Amino acid sequence: MKVAVLGSGIMGNGIAQLAVMAGDTAVAYDVGDEALQRASAAVEKSLARFVKSGKKTQEEADEAFARLSFTTSLADAVTGADVVIEAAPEILDLKQDLWKQVVGHAPAEALLGTNTSQLSITSIAAALGDEASRLVGIHFFNPPVMMRLVEVIAGLETAPENVERAKAFGEHVGKTVVVCQKDSPGFITSRAYAILRLECVKMLEEGIATAEDIDTALKLGFNFPMGPLELGDMNGVDTYVHAISGLEKAHGDRFRPTVGLRNMVAANRLGRKTGAGFYDYDADGQKVV
Ligand SMILES: NC(=O)c1ccc[n+]([C@@H]2O[C@H](COP(=O)([O-])OP(=O)(O)OC[C@H]3O[C@@H](n4cnc5c(N)ncnc54)[C@H](O)[C@@H]3O)[C@@H](O)[C@H]2O)c1
Repeated sequence: MKVAVLGSGIMGNGIAQLAVMAGDTAVAYDVGDEALQRASAAVEKSLARFVKSGKKTQEEADEAFARLSFTTSLADAVTGADVVIEAAPEILDLKQDLWKQVVGHAPAEALLGTNTSQLSITSIAAALGDEASRLVGIHFFNPPVMMRLVEVIAGLETAPENVERAKAFGEHVGKTVVVCQKDSPGFITSRAYAILRLECVKMLEEGIATAEDIDTALKLGFNFPMGPLELGDMNGVDTYVHAISGLEKAHGDRFRPTVGLRNMVAANRLGRKTGAGFYDYDADGQKVV
């Protein structure tokens, strides 16, 4: 099977790696050589980690890497592809434009999946006109090679058979697949987690408990690998506020960002990247206790 991955950033290179580890041929496409070089180095490093941990032999890793190629030609990437996964920047116009170009070159029977984390599948697919039924959401998690879940999302026009094919592809690359049957902001995962984190923020603002205790409670009480607040600092408080503002428009007041969150953004307390968020960080990025 030939898998074309469009956009070779954090997600794209991981998805391409999953495909070659599953025995497929993958072509990673990006708009510039630099991104492709970074992607190549990232996949090589990640495969080496699989070898070091004993999960792959050196030979398996070498063979997987040999099945991966890189190109800045979109036509070369998608011509003859069985599956096309788009992991380009989260900008609606950009994705729509890219998909319009893809359908001009990809085989009519190719499975078309977008890895968007929060854009509407239906809106992206609208750019495809009569071919909107071909596009389906195939949402991998970061990092794709480690995370076990794939969330498949049916757009309003997505053909049921393409939902099934997307599920089969997710399982083929070793993931457990859940289906969000109606295209709805936040899908399943982001919607559920956003409200959980918001409740943690509210408890912090109400003085119910410290950030450390809220994170520890969620980690040890529910077996989460990280607390919602420390993870919020990692993802960026601004990104979170942007995301819940979108969810508020779709699902109502319960997602409204608190005044405290808005103030954090105004004060540039964006998390690890600015050295302060729910926690403070030193120059090495370590949490200051
Ligand atoms: N990073 C995450 O945690 C995460 C998780 C799940 C889903 N996603 C989604 O995956 C997609 C990609 O995110 P990312 O974090 O890998 O972004 P990224 O910025 O790391 O990578 C995007 C890549 O797309 C390339 N690109 C730019 N314009 C392009 C174009 N016109 N055509 C093809 N490629 C183009 C860029 O050069 C870059 O290499 C987004 O839709 C994002 O919402 C991200």
